[in-house]
Amino acid sequence: MRTQVAIVGAGPAGLLLGALLHKAGIDNVVVEQRSAAYVLGRIRAGVLEPGTVGLLQQAGVAQRLHAEGLPHDGFEMAFGATRLRINLQALVGQQVTVYGQTEVTRDLMEQRSAAGLPTVYEAQQVQPHDTASSRPSVTWRDASGAEQRLHADFIAGCDGFHGVCRATLPAAAVQTFEKVYPFGWLGLLSDTPPVHHELIYGSSQRGFTLASMRSATRSRYYLQCRLDDDLARWTDQAFWAELRLRLPPDAAAHLVTGPAIEKSIAPLRSFVAEPMRFGRLFLAGDAAHIVPPTGAKGLNLAAADVGLLARCLAEFYAGTGAARSAAIDSYSQRALARVWKAERFSWWLTSLMHDFSPHEAQGGAFNARMQQAEFDYLCSSVAAQTALAENYVGLPLLT
Ligand code: APR
Ligand code: PHB
Repeated sequence: MRTQVAIVGAGPAGLLLGALLHKAGIDNVVVEQRSAAYVLGRIRAGVLEPGTVGLLQQAGVAQRLHAEGLPHDGFEMAFGATRLRINLQALVGQQVTVYGQTEVTRDLMEQRSAAGLPTVYEAQQVQPHDTASSRPSVTWRDASGAEQRLHADFIAGCDGFHGVCRATLPAAAVQTFEKVYPFGWLGLLSDTPPVHHELIYGSSQRGFTLASMRSATRSRYYLQCRLDDDLARWTDQAFWAELRLRLPPDAAAHLVTGPAIEKSIAPLRSFVAEPMRFGRLFLAGDAAHIVPPTGAKGLNLAAADVGLLARCLAEFYAGTGAARSAAIDSYSQRALARVWKAERFSWWLTSLMHDFSPHEAQGGAFNARMQQAEFDYLCSSVAAQTALAENYVGLPLLT
């Protein structure tokens, strides 16, 4: 088999890249280790930056997003009972759209299937080969156990943090940067009306909480928890009781509880691998970087990476002579410039909103005063709120 771009991974990065390349007339094949149903079963974040909405429109998959997505002009931050609304529309003239990542993935999968684009699911032992040469390939074993090989001009490693593409690179070729946070997020999904019409990021004496949503009838809540917390001890009743204690009182008064559809604990990590290009292999999305979910940047960074990569590859195929490579040669440096700014914002918001007190090195009384001072400054400064807002809606996509 042969194609122009072999895409490893059918998450948002891989599927969006495949759609953008198809729109640009560039042949591509997606090779995914899991089944489509498994990929769709993942519960992930749900806030889209305007830039991401634009890329989904460019890919031709924004119809349902526009019909069902919830445009949000702002969100709230709460320190104890004090609430501060960040008015995105007034501060930076932009909105974000609440639309679950699962729905983005579903829309991309359905479009890819309708277009008859080649997608291999349940591929086992996927392995990139000869990425330093001009004739790279990807192998895998199919359901019968037979080895398949896909020859390509380029390989896009869209296989997430635990994928194979970054792992196959020589250790000396990759510099990684990592920060693991001393707590996790306990998430709950429920078919209950959201406690507020906008998101509330809360910091309380008992820890961080986030009140989010998937629709007007489906809510998504998160509680900061211990990394070694036992999910089994978090009954629905225990979760709702703790959430009620952590939400600002006037919001908690409107909390509607119900049975959990899904409950899970996720660790928080900041991670970047440099560079994001090795010969004919490009890394995009979680394969190259991870952000703590506080700033809702994971999906949006993945979209920004593949939007840039699709443009670079289109310039390669359209170009002649030396100009063919200029764009792909610039991909890693340009992508990383935006990634690191999103890493900074995600780290900053995580550091501001979470309780570090049990971890003296990062916590303690002084840190708690710094957090309160930062929030007080945000409350008093339009300039500070504007800086937060422009990062939350996403810094400009690279042109
Ligand atoms: N071979 C083939 N596919 C693989 C392999 C492999 N060796 N390893 C992982 N994959 C697949 C995974 O099964 C997954 O479907 O690659 C896909 C990677 O998808 P994501 O992990 O969702 O990463 P990405 O597409 O970059 O999207 C980032 O997803 O996880 C969230 O928080 C993250 O919102 C962010 C977004
Ligand atoms: C979510 O709805 O899952 C969500 C929203 C905003 C975040 C993180 C998660 O910052």
